[in-house]
Amino acid sequence: MNLSARVLSANESQTLAINAKAKTMKAQGIDVVSLATGEPDFPTPQVVKDAAIKAINENFTYYTEANGIPDLRKAVAEKFMTENGLPDIKPENVLVSTGGKHSIFNALLAMCNEGDEVILNAPFWVSYPAMIQIAGAKPVIIETTLENRFKMTPAQLEAALTPKTKCVILNSPSNPTGTMYTPDEIKALGKVLEKHDCFIMSDELYEKISFGSVEHFSIGSIAELAHRVITVNGVSKAYSMTGWRVGFMTGPAALMKEAAKVQGQSTSNPNSIAQKAALAALLHTKADVEMMRKEFARRRDMVAALFAAIPNVDFLMPDGAFYMFVDISKALPTMKVTTSFDFCQEALDKHHLAVVPGEAFGAPGCLRFSFAASDETLKKGVERFAAAMTALA
Ligand SMILES: Cc1ncc(COP(=O)(O)O)c(C=O)c1O
Repeated sequence: MNLSARVLSANESQTLAINAKAKTMKAQGIDVVSLATGEPDFPTPQVVKDAAIKAINENFTYYTEANGIPDLRKAVAEKFMTENGLPDIKPENVLVSTGGKHSIFNALLAMCNEGDEVILNAPFWVSYPAMIQIAGAKPVIIETTLENRFKMTPAQLEAALTPKTKCVILNSPSNPTGTMYTPDEIKALGKVLEKHDCFIMSDELYEKISFGSVEHFSIGSIAELAHRVITVNGVSKAYSMTGWRVGFMTGPAALMKEAAKVQGQSTSNPNSIAQKAALAALLHTKADVEMMRKEFARRRDMVAALFAAIPNVDFLMPDGAFYMFVDISKALPTMKVTTSFDFCQEALDKHHLAVVPGEAFGAPGCLRFSFAASDETLKKGVERFAAAMTALA
């Protein structure tokens, strides 16, 4: 069978695969500790649920504007201007989609041609390379190190840019590392980008989850670059609404128009009820967001103290998001397994601990632990990790 080379070239999502295996084991009655998921463990705020129930009861159940309901696009435009300093965002320049993932995919499909290059850094969010490949372009990956807090430098970016570069993706706070670029670091990358006419995609899904070490800064607020920046955000992480599937972006008008066309001809509007819920989330959840942020900060400190006590393990103290990115590459050469992927298989099969291997993020030798879990689960998870390290030593 002659299938799409673009699709065949892309990997499946390894995080979804590990989660599926952990869920199957749990269904068989096995006590699996899963720290592999990429979602907050809090219930969606009540005010959001109430808005959704009201929308159902008011029969807000028909197709909406394909690019999202006007009220929500207006609220998103205001959020981008007041919270992120983006200049003059018009609601008609906002596209609401079925999750931030969908936003990113729509933008990449609308901008990429065969042979284009899209720059990103490793460790990267699992879906970027596959989405870039499906869009017909080539991922160009900048390697980063723990010593440099997994951030690309202006010199690395400069060296990676070519006439074929269509877009550069920045993700701060980062999944999987939790690192954040400081405002000065973003400005320094921006200086490099001023000289190269390409799009800049800023994935800010974890904006609301940061712990005070670094101030969140949107590259779209830099006047010289604003006309080329696509700023992506959504409700999944900030408001614990992963299952509702609402994301949004703004960017150059011509690109947003084509991205809206892609959406209009594929999925049409995002779920009508979820859009009403997302609107309530943007307008009425300040206290809920702060409660979750503080709780993630507390868990980060607790988990960091647990990892610090395990020998031969390095990790990055995250500035944001809810992941610990743990480096076991020092230990691997003398272990019974040779890769972090094999380590994760053993950890799941023998120690019933699900975490995601760094290979999924272009960072072999590392593991991603989510700390979006109860204290008890987190403690058990780190204990099982330590037991796996000892058993495989
Ligand atoms: C960095 C990053 N960007 C975008 C997304 C997409 O989120 P969603 O499609 O749930 O809005 C995720 C989800 O895991 C993510 O981690």
